[in-house]
Amino acid sequence: MRPVIIAANWKMHTTPAEAGALAATIAEVSAEPDVERVICPPFVALAHVAAALAGSGVAVGAQNVHAEEAGAFTGEVAAGMLEGLATWAIVGHSERRRDQGETDALVGRKLRRCLDHGLRPILCVGEQLAEREAGRAVAVVREQLADCLAAFAAAPSSRSAETGPPAVLEDVLVIAYEPVWAIGTGRTASGADAAAMADAIRAVLGALGWPEPAATAVPILYGGSVTSGSIGEFLAEPSLDGALVGGASLKVDEMAGIVARAALTARARLTATPGVEVGS
Ligand code: PGA
Repeated sequence: MRPVIIAANWKMHTTPAEAGALAATIAEVSAEPDVERVICPPFVALAHVAAALAGSGVAVGAQNVHAEEAGAFTGEVAAGMLEGLATWAIVGHSERRRDQGETDALVGRKLRRCLDHGLRPILCVGEQLAEREAGRAVAVVREQLADCLAAFAAAPSSRSAETGPPAVLEDVLVIAYEPVWAIGTGRTASGADAAAMADAIRAVLGALGWPEPAATAVPILYGGSVTSGSIGEFLAEPSLDGALVGGASLKVDEMAGIVARAALTARARLTATPGVEVGS
């Protein structure tokens, strides 16, 4: 049974003080033990948010990590620096692909850094509008996944016999399907389109050699202008396991509504799974 995950991507919003207060309020109004909640504030707010969320059950995520362990990279943040601050990280967000020219090869190396440092990665993939209109959406996402995972596999791990092996990617990866044309635009894909892409992603992972049940078990989130009003359409799809929420995740009422709806799906899944207790 796959978990239901709601991840908030605050992008370049909030000061550290604002972020701490907002995170605490969101944790309070969205206290649903059956939903995995993650808040990804700007780097400078991670410490405030981590302190505000301590003991709340809400995890903290970074919005990015650097592909290298350390070095002369002015202004950058390495995965290892997030120790004690974050347990998740978004990689390959379309805004970074667009604005920082991030390639799949680079994103694959970022995945490696996440695993080396115990961060659960949310890997973002998704097509542009012209690609969807040309009927190439699945081909584009397939290529992104194949290239990211090949770069991940080729990147050496910084773990050693002393530090122990890193987590296995298949055990921790979360994928966010974000059609680029639906991010920050108010437009959303249909639930059926997003679910079809989630099915395609699992098939691609299988074709890339992921053994079962890993390919079926990978959580896939939908991202792109999700609100408390639209989340139901996505969570009605059994192939989708939650959302990566941008703009609406800065609004307390929206987050309360989104997580409340997610809890319905999470409870329904738990109820359908023999031997698992709801609310445990
Ligand atoms: P949006 O952003 O909800 O504001 O469209 C989603 C995202 O970029 O993760």
